[in-house]
Amino acid sequence: MENNDLIKDIKTNVNEYIANIKENIDDKKALVITHGCQMNEHDSEKITWLLEKMGYSFVNEIEEADFIIVNTCSVRHSAEDKVYGQLGNLKNLKNRKKNLKIAVCGCMMQRKESRDYVIEKFPNVDIIFGTNNIWKLPELIYSSYNGKKLSIDIEDNPVSIDDELGANRLYSFKSYVNIMYGCNNFCSYCIVPYTRGRETSRRPGEILREIENLAKNGTKEVTLLGQNVNSYGKNFENGYAFYNLLEEINEIKGIERIRFMTSHPKDISDELIYSFKNLDKLSNFLHLPVQAGSSRVLKLMNRKYTKEDYLRKIDKIKSVNPDIALSTDLMVGFPGETEEDFADTLDLAKKVEYDTSFTFIYSIRENTPAANRPDQVPDKVKHERFERLLDVLYPIQEKKNKAFIDKTVDVLVEDVSKKDNENVSGRTDEFKLVNFKGSKDDIGKILKVKINNANSFSLAGEKIES
Ligand code: SAH
Ligand code: SF4
Ligand code: F3S
Repeated sequence: MENNDLIKDIKTNVNEYIANIKENIDDKKALVITHGCQMNEHDSEKITWLLEKMGYSFVNEIEEADFIIVNTCSVRHSAEDKVYGQLGNLKNLKNRKKNLKIAVCGCMMQRKESRDYVIEKFPNVDIIFGTNNIWKLPELIYSSYNGKKLSIDIEDNPVSIDDELGANRLYSFKSYVNIMYGCNNFCSYCIVPYTRGRETSRRPGEILREIENLAKNGTKEVTLLGQNVNSYGKNFENGYAFYNLLEEINEIKGIERIRFMTSHPKDISDELIYSFKNLDKLSNFLHLPVQAGSSRVLKLMNRKYTKEDYLRKIDKIKSVNPDIALSTDLMVGFPGETEEDFADTLDLAKKVEYDTSFTFIYSIRENTPAANRPDQVPDKVKHERFERLLDVLYPIQEKKNKAFIDKTVDVLVEDVSKKDNENVSGRTDEFKLVNFKGSKDDIGKILKVKINNANSFSLAGEKIES
């Protein structure tokens, strides 16, 4: 592996800073606040791993923390506003608690505009770093404790190193694994290519080693992360593709379910579609974001497929695996979207019949191509279309969920209700949320549950004693 020496150097550097900093950290308490997607959730797991190595313990309340890290998201305006609000509150806390240290990291910090705004408006922030250099955190904390007013480090492109360090996984039985970083698609509305850098795939050997170790430590379900997993391997010379990786992971002992997020419709290959039939551990669920139903809008979005292309792929997927659960991302109010375009989105949603959906109102992201279009859709129209879209999606979801009534499903139990400790929740292979009576001892087990009720968002049932 060509970057072996680099990894060794970086590990040594991290360990040295951790050793140097331990005294300063003595008995300090940290809190990591995470915004955004699974990538950020997993990055926060790496951050907490580093913090624990440095000697931090963790708290849930901001008032109890000595160090607060806000891991930010830039994908919509509202996500950024939330962070600014939070930083405003922390300003007051820091006025009362002088020793409090505050770090801001994640996608917002990769954008110069947001970073400069934070530096100007929130001078109480001590540390800033980006999405591509989490491993720098010990060094940044070190310089902060050694008098530096603002310790800051941003790296534009991904270096496959943070995954070589470690992660404090939120769950022991289900784990996120990065298989690639960045995005090269430049959809005209999207900020992610500017916050996560260019697409790079991790080597299969590194990924398989990580998953084998996770399996040995109790992971049953693995979710492979990437902005566009279908283009996994494009930077390799030997033609190794995403479905090859899936085949190898399918052989790992102890792994029972494989999921991935996200695949781009333009790149979904026949081999991948057949994997849903051929690989027994690949979950019966595909998230295939369509964004819009109008081919004209899809072109303006730079999505590189038409409504017909997408529907053809869906037909093929359904013919290979009739039971597959489908999910999508949909956006309303892209600049220039007409009533006719929107009707195409409603039509597509009716034809596909999604099991779940994530719906968004288009939000202007500065310096993306769509932001400068003169034909922005008025807010009132966007909100009205959003409601009409939900009115189509939710009854279909309810119908699909109700079809599970009287069936017995395998549920990987994830959480116990904090309110009563008597109800648990988990996911079926199709990623359907199921609630049923149980106890905290069920967490991490795959149990048989008979479904007796369902609505648009979840199923309910009873555990079948075995
Ligand atoms: N890589 C993933 C998506 C990452 S962002 C993919 O291509 O599917 C998650 C979702 O946020 C996108 O699918 C899109 O629906 C939504 N989104 C991205 N930019 C947006 C914007 N400017 N306004 C509203 N929603 C947006
Ligand atoms: Fe954004 Fe498009 Fe890349 Fe997804 S594929 S992250 S929507 S640019
Ligand atoms: Fe994810 Fe938000 Fe960044 S969606 S990749 S955390 S901009």
